Amino acid sequence: MEVKIKPTMGLTVILIFMACNTDSGKIIAKSDHFKLKVDSLLNIMTLEEKIGQMNQYNGFWDVTGPVPNEGDAEKKYEHLKNGLVGSMLSVRGANAVRAVQKIVVEESRLGIPLIIGFDVIHGYKTLSPIPLAESCSWDLEAIRKSAQVAATEASAAGINWTFAPMVDISRDPRWGRVMEGAGEDPFLGSKIAAARVHGFQGDDLSAINTIAACAKHFAGYGFSESGKEYNPVDIGASTLHNIVLPPFKAAVDAHVKTFMNAFNELDGIPATGNAYLLRDILKNKWDFKGFVVSDWASIKELVMWGYAKDNKAAAKIAAIAGSDMDMESHIYVSELAQLVKEGVVHEDIINDAVRRILTVKFELGLFDDPYKYCDEEREKEVIYSPKHMDAVLDMAKKSIVLLKNDNQLLPLKKEGQNIVLIGALANEKNSPLGSWRIASKDNTAISVLEGMTEYKGNNLVYKKGADVTIGNTQFVNELKINTTDRSEFKEAIDAAKGADVVVMVLGEHGFQSGEARSRTEIDLPGVQQELLEEVYKVNKNIVLVLKNGRPLTINWADKHIPAIVETWQLGTQTGHAVAQVLYGDYNPSGKLTMTFPRNIGQIPIYYNHKNTGRPVADANNPNLVFWSHYSDVENTPLYPFGYGLSYTTFKYEGLKVSKQKFSCAEDITISVKLTNSGKYEGKEVVQLYIRDLVAKVTRPIKELKGFELVNLKPGESKIINFTLNKHNLGYYDNNGDYAVESGDFEVFVGGNSQSTLKTSIELKQVLY
Ligand code: BGC
Repeated sequence: MEVKIKPTMGLTVILIFMACNTDSGKIIAKSDHFKLKVDSLLNIMTLEEKIGQMNQYNGFWDVTGPVPNEGDAEKKYEHLKNGLVGSMLSVRGANAVRAVQKIVVEESRLGIPLIIGFDVIHGYKTLSPIPLAESCSWDLEAIRKSAQVAATEASAAGINWTFAPMVDISRDPRWGRVMEGAGEDPFLGSKIAAARVHGFQGDDLSAINTIAACAKHFAGYGFSESGKEYNPVDIGASTLHNIVLPPFKAAVDAHVKTFMNAFNELDGIPATGNAYLLRDILKNKWDFKGFVVSDWASIKELVMWGYAKDNKAAAKIAAIAGSDMDMESHIYVSELAQLVKEGVVHEDIINDAVRRILTVKFELGLFDDPYKYCDEEREKEVIYSPKHMDAVLDMAKKSIVLLKNDNQLLPLKKEGQNIVLIGALANEKNSPLGSWRIASKDNTAISVLEGMTEYKGNNLVYKKGADVTIGNTQFVNELKINTTDRSEFKEAIDAAKGADVVVMVLGEHGFQSGEARSRTEIDLPGVQQELLEEVYKVNKNIVLVLKNGRPLTINWADKHIPAIVETWQLGTQTGHAVAQVLYGDYNPSGKLTMTFPRNIGQIPIYYNHKNTGRPVADANNPNLVFWSHYSDVENTPLYPFGYGLSYTTFKYEGLKVSKQKFSCAEDITISVKLTNSGKYEGKEVVQLYIRDLVAKVTRPIKELKGFELVNLKPGESKIINFTLNKHNLGYYDNNGDYAVESGDFEVFVGGNSQSTLKTSIELKQVLY
C-alpha cells in the first residue's frame, strides 16, 4: 500500500508499510487492514499527539457559538503545527481547507490529516428543503438523493464529514430545532435516518463524493423541557428506548461513522458525560465502532450544569463516559494529558478514542491523499449544477403538504384569472433557504413571486401587505418581528378586492426556527394574522401558502380559509416548487410528520400517545368531567400525523389479514385495496398502524409499522400488501430489552394516523 504522508516522517511511513504487508499474499478484510495501520500509527504517537486527535477547533471565525478566547486564532495555528488538532469544523471551500490541511500535513511531526466537519444539513450551497419538510415526502429514495447531492457539493469543497443527520424525535413544535429532524415518529424517523446516512456516505466512504455522516444529538435533545432550547430532558425509560433511541440505532445499523452528543442532560446526567448512553448503549450494546464528537463546547458546559467542578473534571468525565472528540471546548487538549499522567484517566481510553478517529480518517482515504476533497475544478463544476437544481426541485415538490382544499380552489386555473399575491415571504429569496445554510449564498432561492410569474396565462399582481421582520436578519442574532407596521395593509386589501383568487404567503422567517429559536406562541408571527383577516373581509377566495419551520397553530385559517398549503422552507428551488403545485403541474402528495396542535396548551400532542385510564367521556353522562381532557379545547389535533390531501381522492376498502391467529414464527400479510377515486393522477402514502392491546408496559394507541407510496391514475386500483411478523410487534421494555408478548393487536390502514379501517390479529406462542 502507498502512504502519502509528509516526506519527513520516515518512521511512520515505514511502520505503516510494514504493518500492511504482514499478510502479504493474503486478502485482508478492509477493517483489519485499517486496524493494522491505525495500531502502527498509534504506536509512534506521543500522548500529546494522541490527545491532539481528540481535539476539534472551529475555523477562525464564529459560527454557532462563542469563540472561547481572544487571541484564539494564534493558539489554533500553533496547535495545528504541533499536531494537537485532529479536526476542524466550518472551514470550507477547497482553498481554505487545503490551507489548514497543509499546516498539519507539512508542519506537524506526523502529518496526520485533519477530518473536516461542517453542518451540511439540507444541502451545502444548492439547498434542499429543511429536513422536517423532506420527511413529509415519506420518500426515502428522494431523501437519500437529497443527502447525496449535499455530499457531492460539500466533498468538492474540502469537507469530508457532515454533522447530519439530526435524528432527534420531537413532540414539541415550540422547540426550534424540529425543522432539522424527521418529526415525531420513531419508525419513520429510523427509516429516514438510514436513508440520510446512505445518502451522505454512499457505498464507499473513500469515494471522492461521499462524506462521513453523524447521528446527532445523542440523546433526548428533542424532549427539552417546555420546548426551551438547551433545557433539561426528563423522560422515562420507556420513552427513551422506544421513541428516542430507535433512529440512533437505525443510524448505527446503516453504518454511520460518527455520533454527536446532545447539549441536554438526561435525568440529571448531561449527555456529554453520560456513560450509560455512550458506553453501555452505544459502544457496548450496539457495538458502534465509529467515534463520538461533543456538541459545541458541551464538555466545558458540564461545569455550568453543575456536573463537574472545573474544566479538568469535565474533561475527565467526558472522556471516561465515551466522548471521543472535543468540539471547541479546548479542554481535552489542555487537561487530558495531565489526567493520564496522574492515573485518573487510563491511557486505554485515549487509545480507544484515537483508534476510532484514525479509522474514520483511513476509511475516508485521507492518508492516501489529504487533499483529495480539495478540488477547485470539481467544486466549480458540481456546486449549483443543473443536475442538483433538478434534484432539489423534485425534493421540494414532494415535501409540500396540502392541508385544506374546499371547493377545489386548487389547482389554480392557468388562464384568464386575476391573481393577487400577498405577503413579504412571497417576494423573499433568503428566508426560504431555511435555517442551516451557512455555506449557501444569500438571496439565492427562487421566490414564490418569481415562480408564479413564470405562469404567463394569468394577470398576476403582487402586494407585500406587511413585513415579517424589521431590520437586518442574521443567523446568529435575535430577529425583530414586525408587530406594529400595518402601513401597507391598505394597498394589499384594495388589490385583493377584485381578484379571482388571492394567494397569501405567510409564516415564519427562515431564521425563526433552528437552533436557539424556541417560541411560546406558534401562530403566524407579527401582524400577519391581522393581514389575513383583513384581506378575508374583502375576498374569501384565499389560498394560504404557509412558510414555516415547525407546525403552527392556525385554527382561524383552518376555519375560514378555503385552501391551505404547507410549503415549509423549501430551499433553492422554493418558488418553482410552490408554483408547480399551485398550478397543478405537480399533485401534492406530502403527509405531515408532526402533529399540528390546535393551541399551545395541547403540546406535547402526538399521534402515538397512551390511552390513559379514562380516555373517553361517560357516554351516559357526557357532562361529567372525570375523563382525560381539557375543558377549553378538544383532545384532537388540528391536523394529525400522517395527514395530507391530494388534488385527487383515494378510497380504501377490503382490509384483510392472511390469517387472524399466528405464531411467532409466521409472517402475516395485511392487504387493502386502494382506488384513485378522483380526477387527477396522484400519489398516496398508504400507512399501516398497529395497537398492542395489552402489554407489561403499556403501549400507544397507535404505532406506525409500515408505509408505501402508491401512484395511481384516475379510476385505477391496486392491492397493497404489508407483511408483519414478531419483529414488528414487540417493544423495548424499561431495561431497553426487546420484548414480544403474545396477545391481541389491532391493525389499521389508511391515509393518516386517524384512519379507522381496522382489523385485528392475535399473536400466539412467543418464544422470547
Ligand atoms: C449544534 C450542532 C452543530 C454544531 C456545529 C451546535 O451548536 O447543536 O448541531 O453541529 O453546533 O456547528
